[in-house]
Amino acid sequence: MQTYIKDLSQHVGEEVTLKGWLYNLRSSGKLMFPQLRDGTGIVQGVVVKNSVSPEIWEALKPLGQESALIVTGRVRADSRAPGGFEVDVSDAQVVQNAHDFPITLKEHGPEFLLDNRHLWLRSKKQHAILKVRHTVVKAVRDFLDNDGFTLADTPIFTPAACEGTTTLFEVDYFGDEKAYLTQSGQLYNEATAAAFGKVYCFGPTFRAEKSKTRRHLTEFWMVEPEMAYATLDDAMNLAERFLSYIAARVLDERVEELKTLERDRSKLEAIVPPFPRLHYDEAVKILHEGFERGEVENKFEWGGDLGAPDETYLSSKYDQPLMVHHYPAAVKAFYMKRDPERDEIALGVDVLAPEGYGEVIGGGERTTSFEFLEQQIAAHGLPKEAFEWYLDLRRYGSVPHAGFGMGIERCTAWMCGIEHIRETIPFPRMLYRLRP
Ligand code: 4AD
Ligand code: MG
Repeated sequence: MQTYIKDLSQHVGEEVTLKGWLYNLRSSGKLMFPQLRDGTGIVQGVVVKNSVSPEIWEALKPLGQESALIVTGRVRADSRAPGGFEVDVSDAQVVQNAHDFPITLKEHGPEFLLDNRHLWLRSKKQHAILKVRHTVVKAVRDFLDNDGFTLADTPIFTPAACEGTTTLFEVDYFGDEKAYLTQSGQLYNEATAAAFGKVYCFGPTFRAEKSKTRRHLTEFWMVEPEMAYATLDDAMNLAERFLSYIAARVLDERVEELKTLERDRSKLEAIVPPFPRLHYDEAVKILHEGFERGEVENKFEWGGDLGAPDETYLSSKYDQPLMVHHYPAAVKAFYMKRDPERDEIALGVDVLAPEGYGEVIGGGERTTSFEFLEQQIAAHGLPKEAFEWYLDLRRYGSVPHAGFGMGIERCTAWMCGIEHIRETIPFPRMLYRLRP
């Protein structure tokens, strides 16, 4: 009967059959130690020359890394073995003998590894990262589903921009109409929130990001909750509970993977409410003080957007994620509600992850005013006819509403403690990278 490596603890003393791939093969005289991986784990087999047929011994000897292999043997608990078990092999079947697998245990450069992403996925670290991603996604869904949100998917082909016109991917839509790949499902979320109250969309998102940074992909996954009858504060309260829940699930379910990644668990254990909240004005003050002390390179001007070094400096003051709110309207999207006391301020929030991970969540409260929205659409040079349906949401039952978007890759990179978000998605899409 086929058994999975992750379940070996339930089969100690029993004979099992494992189906997988050869991770590594060592031999010494009359002993061979094939390491087998099956997608659920890695286990070392022990082959004693005299305990298997000569055919099996000869078939195993020349196998290359990543050969496809089925082995049968008895499970033995061994505290020295990685994973705690070994298999005394009695039978084996070579499914395919592979040679010269390009990715060996030695160091390879990032471009080489990315070119071989389809094979790189089999290595231990990449496997661990994508298991963490899986748990992040599952936690996101469970949290929102259990909190009364309804999943309402939004379209990928859209007729207009949501997050500025500079990062739009244009596609030919049967010749007669221009279409763009979605930058955010938010505008549609606002429609479904008026129908269901609390909604979320979760899917691929596209931005023609011309910059090569460790935080940007051109295709990424974003989850966006949206709530009717909600304010900026409600969005911040939700973000805080949401991120804490995700971190707790990762800590709970990905113990082995966090070990593989050598992730400092205490960094994730610190992600508990309440998160510090900082008005943009206060953030600017802290940046100015940092500049006076020579800790910040350039003097930050009130009114600008926070750059990556600014975000890193601000969040270095805290162990928890930092929520910066009330940004200058000029650096935020057209749909944001203004501060009733200060028109130059938008009711937006960015959640900055610690350890230099930067913005993982962006969101806020949306305007309810038909006139203001109409004016903003014109001021941003957006085509009004494409937004008529969106204006309808302010014509018919306009209520305060708020929400945010979280990039799954940025969240996963942070949970894993890795440098670049390109390793958090099976097949990353970036400037200059469309393959494999
Ligand atoms: O801050 P952003 O642009 O917000 C929005 O799109 C809002 N409409 C969301 C909403 O309120 N419903 O993007 C939200 C998040 C960012 O905080 C970041 O985590 C991620 O999406 N993100 C990216 N992730 C990877 N690569 C990129 N190029 C990203 N751009 C944004
Ligand atoms: Mg943002």
